[in-house]
Amino acid sequence: MPFLTDEKCQYSKLGSEPRVHDKGLNHGSSPTDSSVREELVWRRRFFVLLISSLSVTILLTGGSVRLLYSHSSLSMGCELARPYTPAPVRHITRSLRHAPDAHKFSGDPRPELDEAWHETLSGTLFRLSPDELGPDVNYTNSIRHKEGGLVGVMGVSHNLHCVKRVYQYIHPDYYSDVAASYGDWDAHLEHCLEVLRQAVLCAADTSVYALQWKLTDKEEAKPIVVPYQPSVCVDWDPLHAWMRGRESQLEDLVGPSESIQ
Ligand SMILES: *[C@@H]1O[C@H](CO)[C@@H](O)[C@H](O)[C@H]1NC(C)=O
Repeated sequence: MPFLTDEKCQYSKLGSEPRVHDKGLNHGSSPTDSSVREELVWRRRFFVLLISSLSVTILLTGGSVRLLYSHSSLSMGCELARPYTPAPVRHITRSLRHAPDAHKFSGDPRPELDEAWHETLSGTLFRLSPDELGPDVNYTNSIRHKEGGLVGVMGVSHNLHCVKRVYQYIHPDYYSDVAASYGDWDAHLEHCLEVLRQAVLCAADTSVYALQWKLTDKEEAKPIVVPYQPSVCVDWDPLHAWMRGRESQLEDLVGPSESIQ
């Protein structure tokens, strides 16, 4: 199950913790010397009690701190488990308020906007070896590439495809040919919205936004959200370059007759 975090790391680390406490208690009951005079014995007992109490306190405190520390580092370690990908994934910080390419994808439909989408979605289909699909993946029914290996798609491209379809859906006159190519255009859109809803929840953006008042076109004040911190984003350019370097076309797919289910 490469898509899930490894729960074993949690159990092994937690299981070893109680020993810290056992050791502390054993240390606290160390024997006293009973062959000396009574007064000395009591003094020593008091001293030993004091030292052992201190030791137990220090050990318990140390143990708790270590337990807390192991909890935080262990959850961080487990959170770092990501689905396997053969592609280069690098992160960069970027402001989502002023995306430099926003203008290319906004406004009325036009050839430049279609070209921007075409460029963004290039490399959506790419060639890969069965190993690159992930460890222990049963690829028996996966579509083959005519020249060997398989054909794959990355999740981000599927989500982007859905964003493009939503844009096209709100401009049905301009994209009547796209609408016509789908038997049920509404149903496809609903599928896309559900894909996007799940993707947004999956990669939940936990940065906190503040609110500011802004006047609308109708001169009404409305609260708008303002992200103050830059976001941590996957660096799209090297990732996209990797896909494009292996770009495949629909014509490269084996089938459907050979592998239809
Ligand atoms: C892989 O999938 C195929 C088709 O579903 C199945 O026949 C086969 O037994 C599976 N192999 C393994 C190792 O699970």
